[in-house]
This record gives sequence, C-alpha cells and structure tokens, in this order.
Amino acid sequence: MCGIVGYVGDRPCRDLLIAGLEKLEYRGYDSAGVSVISDGEIDSVRAVGNLANLREAIAQHGGDGGVAVAAPPATIGVAHTRWATHGRVTEENAHPHGDCEDKIHIVLNGIVENHAELRKELQAEGHEFSSETDAEIVSHLIERHYDGDLTTAVRAAFAELRGHYAFVAMHLDHRDTLVAARKECPLVVGRAGEENFVASAIPAFLAETRRVLTVENDEVVTITPDGAEITDADGNPVSRDEDEVTWDEDAAEKGGYPTFMKKEIHEQADAVAETITDRLPGLDSVDLSGVELDDDYLRTAERIMIVACGTSYHAGLVGRYAIEQWARVPVGMDIASEYRYREPVNRPNDLVIGITQSGETADTLAAMRLAREGGSKVLAVTNIMGSQATRDADAVLYTRAGLEIGVAATKTFVSQVAAMYLLGLRLAELRGTMPRERIAELVAEIKSLPSKIDETIAKTDKRAAAIARGHADRRFFLYLGRHIGLPICLEGALKLKEISYIPADAYAAGEMKHGPIALLDEDTPVVCVATDSPVLDKVLSNVEEVRARGADVIAVATEGSDRVAEVADQTLFVPRTDWMLQPILAILPLQLLAYYIARENGLNVDQPRNLAKTVTVE
Ligand code: M6R
Repeated sequence: MCGIVGYVGDRPCRDLLIAGLEKLEYRGYDSAGVSVISDGEIDSVRAVGNLANLREAIAQHGGDGGVAVAAPPATIGVAHTRWATHGRVTEENAHPHGDCEDKIHIVLNGIVENHAELRKELQAEGHEFSSETDAEIVSHLIERHYDGDLTTAVRAAFAELRGHYAFVAMHLDHRDTLVAARKECPLVVGRAGEENFVASAIPAFLAETRRVLTVENDEVVTITPDGAEITDADGNPVSRDEDEVTWDEDAAEKGGYPTFMKKEIHEQADAVAETITDRLPGLDSVDLSGVELDDDYLRTAERIMIVACGTSYHAGLVGRYAIEQWARVPVGMDIASEYRYREPVNRPNDLVIGITQSGETADTLAAMRLAREGGSKVLAVTNIMGSQATRDADAVLYTRAGLEIGVAATKTFVSQVAAMYLLGLRLAELRGTMPRERIAELVAEIKSLPSKIDETIAKTDKRAAAIARGHADRRFFLYLGRHIGLPICLEGALKLKEISYIPADAYAAGEMKHGPIALLDEDTPVVCVATDSPVLDKVLSNVEEVRARGADVIAVATEGSDRVAEVADQTLFVPRTDWMLQPILAILPLQLLAYYIARENGLNVDQPRNLAKTVTVE
C-alpha cells in the first residue's frame, strides 16, 4: 500500500512533504522519493528503505535540492512511499517518475493493468523508460497528450489507463498547479488558506489542516494555492462540499476506525483487487508471468503439497479445493510445523507451496527448505517483498494486501485465497482441465469479488455487531461446516479464539456425531457456514441436529437461500457468487462477529495477549 502526498502553496515544502509521508509510514513501504520544482528545474531524490534513508539522500544531494543556496525554496512538490508490486525494490523503481524531458513528474498508488501494451506503444513513439514500473507509463502518457494544459493532458492520459490507481502529476511549466486523478484508490485534498495538499490518506496533512475534500472515482482534480477544482472524466465541473475532520492523530492513522483490525477488515476489497487485477487481463485467462515457474513444470507436476501455519494454512485449505476441482492435480496439505518432522516424501515432480503472509514464519520456512532439499520446486505465496520466503523459494506469487498491523490476519487471508484461486485457474488453463467457457465464468466472478467484499461488509457489519452483543458472554462456540465451508469455520474459530479468548472448536459437520455433539446444549452457539454448494442439504441436516439439542444456530448463507434462514436462529447473508468462491465472502461476517465479541468484552483486538504478528521462533 503506497502513500502519496502533494503540496502547493507558499511555504518551503520538502519537509512538509516528508512529514506527510511519515504519517503514512504505518501503511508499509520499501522505498520513497520526493520531487519539487526548484530554481527552474524538477529536483528529485529517491531512496530504497525508510524515510531516514530518503532524508540522508536529500542531505547528500545538497540540502534543499542541490541548487544554488540563494535559490528560493521550493513551494510545490510531490512525494511517495512505494510498496513494490511491479518491478524490484530499487531506487530507479521508486517514485516520482519523470517523462523523457524531465518536465513532468508523477506519483502513483495502485496498479495500471494495461501498462505492458501502453509501454510498447510509447516506446514505438520514441519514449524512453528508466524504470520497470507500471507507474512510469503515466508520466509518458501525460507527455504524449500535453499541449500547454496540464489538466487536459492528465484527463486524456487517465482515459487510456485501466486498473485501479490514483496519481498526482506536476509539470515544470506550471509552478502552482498539481493535477490528480482517481480510479478506485483513495485520494483526498486538504484545504488550507493559501496552500493545498493532496494525499492518499488524511493523516498525511492532518497536522496542517482538517478541511478535507474527497475525490471520488473517475474524477480529476486541479489543485492550486487558491483552491481545488474537481471535474468528472469528461471535464464537467463537479461541486463537492468540504468535510471537517474531527479525528485525533491516533484515529487518523487508523483511517477513522477505532482499531487497525477494523480498518484492515475494510481494506479487504482493495487487497483482493490489488492481488487479482493485472493478473486477469482478459476474459478467460490468468497471467502469472511474474511468477517464475515454468509453464511446462506447472503442466506436468504430479502432485502439489501446501505447507503453512495458522490463517495461511486455512487459505491453503481453500486453495486445495480450488486446485483439485479445477485442475485435477492431487493436493496434500500440511501444517508446516508437522510436515518438517514427519520425514515427508518429496519428489522432483512435486510442487510445494509455502503460504506465509510475513514470509518469515520459521516453521513454514523450514518446511519449504526441506522440500527443496528433497528435490521439489517451491513456490512462496507471500505478502512481503524481500522476505526470507522469497529468497528461499524457486518462485514467488505475491499477495498484495499491503501492510497488516493487527495481529489477527484479515486482509492477508482474503488475498491469499484470491492468489490460490488464480493459481488454480492457471493450472486448469495449462492442463486443459476446464472448458474455456467455465474459465471465463470464473474469471468474471473473481473480478467481481472486490465489490462483493465491500457489499458483504456493508450488509453484515451491523447484524454481526448485534449478534455479538447477544453472545459476548458465552463460554464456548462450535463452528460447523463442510467442504469449502470447513476452512472458513476453522478460520472463523481461530479469529474468535485469538482476539476474544473464548474457547471455540471448528469441526467438519459430518464428524459431529462422532463426538463433539456431546458439547451441545442451549448455551452453546453453533456457527454454521451454509453457503450454496453441492453439500448444502447435508449442512442443513446437521443444522437440524444441532437445533434438536437446543443450541443457538448462527448461519452464514448465500443471499436468497431462505432454507437456511428458516432453520437458523440468526443468518448473515453474503452475496451470491460461484459456489467455489463463496469462502472469500463467507469469512467476512465471521471476522466481524469475532471482532465485535472481543470489543464487547473490552479487549485489545490489535494486540491480543501472548501473540506476535510474526512467529520467527520454531
Ligand atoms: O506470516 P504467516 O502467514 O506465516 O503467519 C502464520 C500465522 O502465524 C498467522 O497466519 C496467524 O495464524 C494469524 N496472524 C492469525 O490471525
């Protein structure tokens, strides 16, 4: 999750910009940069690593820009913290990016999906690129369209881009103007007297102003010291009222949410969009070209083994269903800390997938190393560039969830599941195990997941809070599910245990009568994942068994599935999607339920007792 700050006004701005970036540091980044217009040129400094490195690079570069001491300090500029998605973590790939003449500089958050084709076109026209990023396309596109009016050029460039992103542009010939545009990624303007800010999040300028203008999707905004003019994508003026932000700095870091966990729950649509967008470039294909695994290897691998811990293990379980069903490859699953001690049989034709959001979990790393020593190829599915898992693996599939601060994994889980869906589809495509039409159906459904995730959270949030109020004092919860519902039960129960400290168990519903049914009485809430699937009837008969013991049933069901609502005491509905994709929606109300139960009990959900975000000890 990158960060953007821009400033135009009458104050020296380089320190203001870096102070703004500091307020966005919590989002995570691996490099940073700042460009200002100073003494007739754009002065740009970028550095790999943290903002201290950027400050040092600026100092070495020569204080306020390496220009003559007598030059007036810069009063317009853009700055950025980058979380690498396209291109390695290098100074060249850090933002801002310039055009061929170094007159236009841009900073961008998000992903430009059609960057490869635009790059080719621009190169054919003679544009020269200096980075591997998708973002650099934007400065060259603006250059292509620039004819004296920066806003018009930005709008024309914006019209050619696909993906989800927000960017800010600055031109040497317009020393009092920044132009920004937004497609899905957030963008806000901070209004002050004779100066204005633009940023990806309010904390970047909260120390300077609390007057905020929100830029909406498909809008372009032109910012000068006098004000901000918003237009739609066709250039029609849009009027927008200012909001007065009342948050304190702590709340601002959390985007106005009371906790990081709640903020991260609400970032899930974005996390999944970042993970899938440019990997589903067409109607019926998956592009995993960034993952350096030979297509032939994927086509011929005889078996897949997934190793992971905790939440990542649950994402692996969902992935197993998808891969086996779609690509017909046998998939084994193991908890990483068990796998490494059972002398597993690895063969060169096995693909071993290590799933670890941090890329640093000791048991998962050890399992991956063991698999490699046994001759298998190892694919890491991780969220963190440069992590140990990326160095130990033969290939890496990045989830792009951004930094997760809450100890409880939420947005990293849904992006892992999304990554496994992509892998399952790619394997099916390569191995010819699914008709094109079915692949196309699934691609369309996966593309619609981000908006369905937002819809699910919006629709279930209050209901989950109400259910939590009624159950926060219960001493034990049982989670029951079948097939793809089972990993969601395991994950829902893990969320409840780790943040509310209430004992919970998750079981395959068919196993209930082999023991756990003895736990049930009228004081036991039973959470059932009963989304549409070929096993729904069986799940419903398990629900009847539970109710016959007087237990209180909380069900997660697919919208329109009245049969579930008839047998459950409370139902949390999620939007309809392909049944194999329902897990990514079904987990959302269960995260919310666990969250609200913990909050009802006054607990610190961001930092539960006894837990660390990354477990580096074996
Ligand atoms: O970084 P990893 O994905 O390897 O972490 C594995 C587990 O420690 C982690 O998923 C843990 O279970 C979650 N934080 C729980 O919410």
